[in-house]
Amino acid sequence: MAVIGQDIDEAIRFLKDGNLVGIPTETVYGLAGNALDTEAVLKIFEVKERPAFDPLIVHIGRFEAMSEFVIYVPEKARKLAINFWPGPLTLILPKNKRIPEVVTSGLPTVAVRIPDHPLTLRLLNSLPFPLAAPSANPFGYVSPTSARHVADQMGHKISYILDGGVCDIGIESTIIGFEGQDPVIYRLGGKSIEEIENLIGKVKTVLASSSRPDAPGMLLAHYAPGSKKVLLGQWHEYQDQINMHETVLIRFKDTDEKFPLNRQAVLSEKGDLREAAKNLFTTLRRFDIKGISYIVAELMPEEGFGRAINDRLRRAASVD
Ligand code: TXA
Ligand code: MG
Repeated sequence: MAVIGQDIDEAIRFLKDGNLVGIPTETVYGLAGNALDTEAVLKIFEVKERPAFDPLIVHIGRFEAMSEFVIYVPEKARKLAINFWPGPLTLILPKNKRIPEVVTSGLPTVAVRIPDHPLTLRLLNSLPFPLAAPSANPFGYVSPTSARHVADQMGHKISYILDGGVCDIGIESTIIGFEGQDPVIYRLGGKSIEEIENLIGKVKTVLASSSRPDAPGMLLAHYAPGSKKVLLGQWHEYQDQINMHETVLIRFKDTDEKFPLNRQAVLSEKGDLREAAKNLFTTLRRFDIKGISYIVAELMPEEGFGRAINDRLRRAASVD
């Protein structure tokens, strides 16, 4: 079983030996290995049971490290990095030969970000290599937002989990790639479209919509909490189709008085979308229990973090 602790030196030892370590970030926990070591990267795919065609994000500790791994940085990418790193934003840039092909699934581009978490920043800045890390969940499952989540699912497969508390943001980073100089959002996440457009102007959004997209920013069948069926909207729309005794509700800011209270979760009583995002994955995990077959989730307002939450709910609902 993995040891859970806050010992950075211990994490460094494991990583230098080619082993995997669970790491905290402000978005979700990552399953990290030496990005320059093909063997370590292959272990990540194996432990996560992730298909080889789905590339990993390379995490670096400081802005200057980016130029060691990419051949070109568009002006708007530079601006985004300078303003939003460390933070919940991943940039897809043309890679150089130092990044092994396994990391990028053979793509000519590499996903890079500086995560905003004090422990992990210290770790990254103490290591002589960057860390490849997908979210530390089995492929297709909800991302982990605490060390406990990682231990529950990955504990028997990795050596160490660096405990950085509960993730502040709670959903994955926003992913931006480039068509020439033009930015394209591939995944909605912890940096909202509004914040991004305030800085660099209008940005196109192209979200992956098949199970083998060209831009594998996100596969469709994702975020399913176990074998539960996720349905969108209000419970009474499904009254004739499903057993309500096996149903729980995920609501935005208030409970539905016509439904048993102990089977409802409210994401943010204040109606704060940021708080709702932070609570989303923990709530999905909480309902992954025996006796529950259906999760009826209310969609959030389509703005700010609401868009990223809805995207994940729609993906969870698309799984059959
Ligand atoms: O917040 C996050 O981004 C977390 C933390 C740990 O940093 N990481 C994360 O990694 O969510 P992961 O592997 O679960 O999701 C990364 C996504 C994948 O869906 C992958 O397809 C996409 O990034 N990606 C990676 N490299 C890419 C590339 N070169 N082109 C297009 N998409 C890429
Ligand atoms: Mg993931």
